[in-house]
Amino acid sequence: MKSLEIVPLEGKTLKVIIVEKEYSEPFWLIEPPTKDSSKNVFSEPSIAFRSFLERLIDEVNPDFATDELGNRSSKEFDQNNVLTQLFQDKKVPFYWVDINEEARSYIVSSLDEKKQLRDSIAKALKELPSDADSIKREYLIAYGQGIQQEIDEIERETKFSVRESWIAMEILEKARKFDEERITCLHLSSPEHISGVKKILESADVEVEVVRPIKKLIFPSTKTSSEKLEDLLKSIQIQVKPVIKKTVEEYPYILLFLDTDERASPFDICMAYDAGYNVVMPYENVTAENVKQIVQDAIFSRDPKGLKRTCFFIGGKNMEKAEEVLKIVRDTMFPPFQVNTIIDPGGAYTTAAAMVAKVEDALSRSKLGSLKDKTCAIFGTGAVGRVAAILLAKLGCNVMIVSLNPKRADGEAYVERLSNLFRDKYGVDIEGVFAPTSEKKIEVMKKADVIFCASKAGVQIISKEMLNELKLAKVIADVNAVPPFGVEGIKLKDDMREITPGIFSIGALTIGKLKYKLEKEILKEARRNNKGIVYNYNHALQLARRILKEETAVTKLVVTLKYPPKQKKSTGQS
Ligand SMILES: NC(=O)c1ccc[n+]([C@@H]2O[C@H](COP(=O)([O-])OP(=O)(O)OC[C@H]3O[C@@H](n4cnc5c(N)ncnc54)[C@H](OP(=O)(O)O)[C@@H]3O)[C@@H](O)[C@H]2O)c1
Repeated sequence: MKSLEIVPLEGKTLKVIIVEKEYSEPFWLIEPPTKDSSKNVFSEPSIAFRSFLERLIDEVNPDFATDELGNRSSKEFDQNNVLTQLFQDKKVPFYWVDINEEARSYIVSSLDEKKQLRDSIAKALKELPSDADSIKREYLIAYGQGIQQEIDEIERETKFSVRESWIAMEILEKARKFDEERITCLHLSSPEHISGVKKILESADVEVEVVRPIKKLIFPSTKTSSEKLEDLLKSIQIQVKPVIKKTVEEYPYILLFLDTDERASPFDICMAYDAGYNVVMPYENVTAENVKQIVQDAIFSRDPKGLKRTCFFIGGKNMEKAEEVLKIVRDTMFPPFQVNTIIDPGGAYTTAAAMVAKVEDALSRSKLGSLKDKTCAIFGTGAVGRVAAILLAKLGCNVMIVSLNPKRADGEAYVERLSNLFRDKYGVDIEGVFAPTSEKKIEVMKKADVIFCASKAGVQIISKEMLNELKLAKVIADVNAVPPFGVEGIKLKDDMREITPGIFSIGALTIGKLKYKLEKEILKEARRNNKGIVYNYNHALQLARRILKEETAVTKLVVTLKYPPKQKKSTGQS
């Protein structure tokens, strides 16, 4: 049996001009149950199309031409085909290219069993008396639909990826027979196979051009009074406009990853590729001083279409540096050279947004009230802690940010500076607290309803004994995923687990999973919808809320039926 293998031509160049047909060449492996025979009536090349082809042949002088075989036999293709005649007259070899008979029969026979099963289910359904219990009908329909879906899936796979590969392979095979160095082929294609065949041919170094003859029906400006089809047809003109469309250049999606650290983080780079960017260019040691040149060179190198596929991502552990870089990046852009810019230093913005959204959702699910009415204590003053503090303060919470590091000598002055920074730069009131000892931490925890742990990875900051000191109900969330975790006894997957009486925990993986989805969604949204905007923590919080809402809505939609249905118990006495 001939096997499917796409082998590029060696020492020759092949140009394929794909001409879009006016109709889709009928093809199916198993006759559909509701076969619409009227479709075939329109599977005829029109006079207008044939005249257009003649002119095209004169223009490009192809070495050979090809067409899909579809449901036709090779005999029908050769003998009962106006196009075969046309190419013969023009002395252009004309071949059919398609999945070969052996491969097709092999797939059909593997589908046969499914088809028989489908038909027997359809028969059983038809024979079901109209008063039969509806659950049996429900089951038969569900079973039949499942089988039909499997058949459709195999048919789709065969019709598109398998068949298109055969078509491309056969075109290459035919081209191999020609001795010329430069060969031109005219390939007639159903509209739905153009992009698939083009892609496969291009992957085998074939030059491809697509021609779309545009056919227009021109109706009379005044309606004909006659209802007769004959009169109506006489009043219509057919206009064919031969438009040769050059291959449209596909711009790749480029993400310029500007990292303020010495090494660009592979985390964000890998994620960007997974979110569909074709190219991710990492820049390291990026500063407010050197970033302007990078931005200018990137935005001036692409036209408006290319700019729609250009994004910037600012990373690096240091939040202040990243914000400075963002300012220069945005100041350098001006209309129409404005592209989407994501800022997520060290993943902190998405982590903080995910933590806040998760806690907000957990409180509401557990009927513990609204987050905005709570007093929140944030343990850790790194980027995650700071952004969580800003988001919570903006929501209207009463917020304390707590520095815990016992090695910090100027603790009190440091938290005061931090508090001033929040007020002056971000316009929010946040109390700074220095709590390097257990007693101080307990004091803060007693005042708080919700505790957010955003301290250094692998450092435990809250012990069981400390938790036992707390009397009122609290929620405690931790983002430290490196053992020992921030809270003694917490588990990575906790989602409002009662860790000690009255204390409900949310673990690092529960938050991390949302953070992961969130960053990917931001990357995708910035790629798809380039409006020249900034994706910061505010945007991240909105998106995290949307993800949680949609997740909850979908997971609630489970419906399970049982067969046979439970018989209703008789209520009568025996
Ligand atoms: N899941 C994710 O995708 C993800 C992403 C980013 C970050 N994270 C996690 O989020 C947490 C915070 O990260 P970050 O980047 O904001 O900050 P970070 O630089 O890791 O440190 C957070 C804070 O911990 C405190 N700290 C340092 N040493 C300490 C010690 N020995 N004892 C107690 N506290 C100490 C420091 O604040 P003070 O000196 O003021 O106490 C520091 O600002 C980390 O656990 C990190 O792993 C997770």
